[in-house]
Amino acid sequence: QQDPRIAGISSAIRVIPNFPKPGIMFQDITTMLLDTKAFKDTIDLFVERYRDKNISVVAGVEARGKPNKLPGEVISEEYSLEYGTDKMEMHVGAVEAGERALVIDDLIATGGTLCAAVKLLERVGVNVVECACVIELLGLKGRERLGDRPLFVLVNAT
Ligand code: PRP
Repeated sequence: QQDPRIAGISSAIRVIPNFPKPGIMFQDITTMLLDTKAFKDTIDLFVERYRDKNISVVAGVEARGKPNKLPGEVISEEYSLEYGTDKMEMHVGAVEAGERALVIDDLIATGGTLCAAVKLLERVGVNVVECACVIELLGLKGRERLGDRPLFVLVNAT
């Protein structure tokens, strides 16, 4: 059975049809962030799950980790998009080998973004304990792309 807070989180997420292009149902979490209870419940659910997991770093992807944004020395990982490829970068020294990471994003679709983030961390010896998202778009097989790495999501969408 589902945590009773999930329904409130789910209904606070605004779905905008045909954005940014026809046929796409855009999942907009900004309305959830403005809903004090839903946002608090979201944070609480993650905290409750990870509080006792010895997480040493919480990693997030900023603006898809676009290349050439970080001033220091970086390592980068190419990943495929719907059309073509993109590159994600992380500062050398941002994390240390042996750390225990939780990787968080708002949404998983094809899984390309999370997968690239996980690979960057693993390449420098970080142990990715789990990936967590607010929303999983089912049907795009993003979860499969993560292999046997665990993925925790609060809300499923199509
Ligand atoms: C969304 C979302 C994830 C990514 C997931 O970002 O925030 O980061 O897509 O997609 P994937 O599983 O297919 O890789 P978006 O492309 O909307 O850009 P943003 O990061 O600037 O919000």
